[in-house]
Amino acid sequence: MAKGPVPLIAGNWKMNGLRKGAEAEIRKLARLALKPKKLHCELVICPPATLLLAMQGWLRTARADRRIALGGQDCHAAPSGAHTGDISAQMLKDAGASHVILGHSERRQDHGETDATVAAKVAAAHAAKLTAIVCVGETLAEREDGQAEAVVARQIAASLPEGSRAGNTVIAYEPVWAIGTGRTPAPVDVARMHDRIRAILSERFRDGELFRILYGGSVKPGNAPDLLRIANVDGALVGGASLVAADFWGIARVRA
Ligand code: 13P
Repeated sequence: MAKGPVPLIAGNWKMNGLRKGAEAEIRKLARLALKPKKLHCELVICPPATLLLAMQGWLRTARADRRIALGGQDCHAAPSGAHTGDISAQMLKDAGASHVILGHSERRQDHGETDATVAAKVAAAHAAKLTAIVCVGETLAEREDGQAEAVVARQIAASLPEGSRAGNTVIAYEPVWAIGTGRTPAPVDVARMHDRIRAILSERFRDGELFRILYGGSVKPGNAPDLLRIANVDGALVGGASLVAADFWGIARVRA
């Protein structure tokens, strides 16, 4: 693989995980991730916020906390205040997170998050010194309408605040129709979209070449080699397969 950004393999547990089963899975993952002398990719697990603190402890006792980082799945745009049920970026940081997923299509759909909402959250994440993993991606209707690239371009333009740079921001291209469906775009379509995203980032940011651009949507150990070898695919954002240590590692090892 040509040199470029260090690949990032991130697991999004979504609304899954209770302490009991999670501990066993994380300990398994810790054992697997500690096997290589040196890891050539970064690993992040984004559990529900309720598990962050416990997970930090499990990783520490397994001596894997330098190999596996933790992330949240959303944060509020404000640092604190009267926002019942919400969690701030600082709180995620306080609970052991170094990353946070923002603008996931499930948040955009279920919670009506707009690009402007996402940009405000990304700015809050940066202020708390969290790396934002910003999700973009078209729906099936948008793709069939030939709008996929335009939608993604608009989302990137409007979801990244000033101050975004390769060191604090990761893009995750997740076609909505590929999430949890077992369907993935053809490699040529992934390549085209990632090239386009790279061009957009390079046009706007001095270090645009260095941003990690992850692919997400039905990534499994079986299709990971084909997806992760595509130019400008700098890692993966993994949903379902990240819940099982062996599967997540089966993906990560492709770039480990
Ligand atoms: P799946 O890997 O389950 O398709 O989920 C992808 C995703 O939404 C990750 O954020």
